[in-house]
Amino acid sequence: MKAVVYDGPRQVSVKDVPDAKIERPTDVLVRITAANICGSDLHMYEGRTDFETGRWFGHENLGEVVEVGSGVDKVRVGDRVVIPFNVACGHCKNCERGLTNYCLTAQPDPAMAGAAYGFADMGPWAGGQAELLRVPWGDFNCLRLGEDSVERENDYVMLADIFPTGYHATEMAGVSPGDQTVIYGAGPVGLMAALSATIRGASKVMVVDRHPDRLRLAESIGAIAIDDSKVDPVEAVLEQTMGLGADNGCECVGYQAHDPSGNEHANDTLNKLVRSVRFTGTIGMVGVFVPQDPGAADALAKKGQVAFDFGLFWFKGQHMGSGQAPIKRYNRALRDLIAAGKAEPSFIVSHQLPLDGAPDAYTHFDARDDGWTKVVLKPAMASV
Ligand SMILES: NC(=O)c1ccc[n+]([C@@H]2O[C@H](COP(=O)([O-])OP(=O)(O)OC[C@H]3O[C@@H](n4cnc5c(N)ncnc54)[C@H](O)[C@@H]3O)[C@@H](O)[C@H]2O)c1
Ligand SMILES: [Zn+2]
Ligand SMILES: [Zn+2]
Repeated sequence: MKAVVYDGPRQVSVKDVPDAKIERPTDVLVRITAANICGSDLHMYEGRTDFETGRWFGHENLGEVVEVGSGVDKVRVGDRVVIPFNVACGHCKNCERGLTNYCLTAQPDPAMAGAAYGFADMGPWAGGQAELLRVPWGDFNCLRLGEDSVERENDYVMLADIFPTGYHATEMAGVSPGDQTVIYGAGPVGLMAALSATIRGASKVMVVDRHPDRLRLAESIGAIAIDDSKVDPVEAVLEQTMGLGADNGCECVGYQAHDPSGNEHANDTLNKLVRSVRFTGTIGMVGVFVPQDPGAADALAKKGQVAFDFGLFWFKGQHMGSGQAPIKRYNRALRDLIAAGKAEPSFIVSHQLPLDGAPDAYTHFDARDDGWTKVVLKPAMASV
């Protein structure tokens, strides 16, 4: 089968690799029809993780079931399914509590928890930017889709990661009807957080970034765009909230946060959130931070540390939640919102391309080039 293989920093190529196949009775084999490129892939693509060359990315996957193991009860050949990026067993201590983001079985390192397809430090699982994907514990990990899943594939594929992840940011931030919410980052995840805050009834959603194309998308769903290359975003949020600050905030950027000129400051969005959110407000952090970052610009960040304004955070009595999102907690409900026409997360999609469009797409998406807001790879599409 063909897959988008990681060759080293900022290099991917489409190669023939061994076909994914059923390895255990509980596996499901999926022919991928849509696999997104994610901001999380970019941390790996840029060589800012220890992702191994020769492996392939792809954790936002949707496709058709082509084979099931003998121990699979629910999922059938021919089903169209979307697969949470978290690989989870369904029966460990964490999965039982709904924390599929920290599965203890799918992660082989006993000192760690949590697993994902095609991801650094998240187990051996192959990615879905390929023609076929092996889904372990298939009954647990596949979410079946209705007949509209071909026509609305670009909506449903967002259920593999970023729509539930954006929703999780708003859940951790406690966004409730009437709230004023600020979101740092208008990448795909920040835009999904903005959509989720709106679905949850926020009265005002403010989105901070500096890319006009991404800010326009935020405005297209009724959010207030704040361009931090033109204004101080904290001041802008305070102006919008009668000087009090937002009720809650979402961090949707991660450890490669930078100023508009491109200089990285891993603490930038965290400290701005502390200042943008009111006393006793809550912050949900889904942007990725890592325990070590040897490629970082400063000594603290190399050790995975950030100079966090903890004093102000404590003084304001704020709360914060963090970590990978437990996709399975939300994907069924969000699927039903899509099916009912009440959520249309595909508004962020800028490109759909065959697998051999991936090397070029990675270059553009990584550069946050204008107009490259979200790429969906479609392995069955004719080559470019
Ligand atoms: N927790 C999870 O489960 C989960 C899931 C998916 C993605 N993520 C993470 O979420 C983050 C965002 O993902 P994405 O796909 O939207 O990526 P992205 O890189 O496309 O988007 C990030 C956006 O943040 C903006 N930005 C950078 N520095 C900023 C700053 N200082 N202030 C305001 N905006 C700033 C960039 O201009 C960009 O538009 C990444 O770290 C990704 O790894 C986490
Ligand atoms: Zn993702
Ligand atoms: Zn588990």
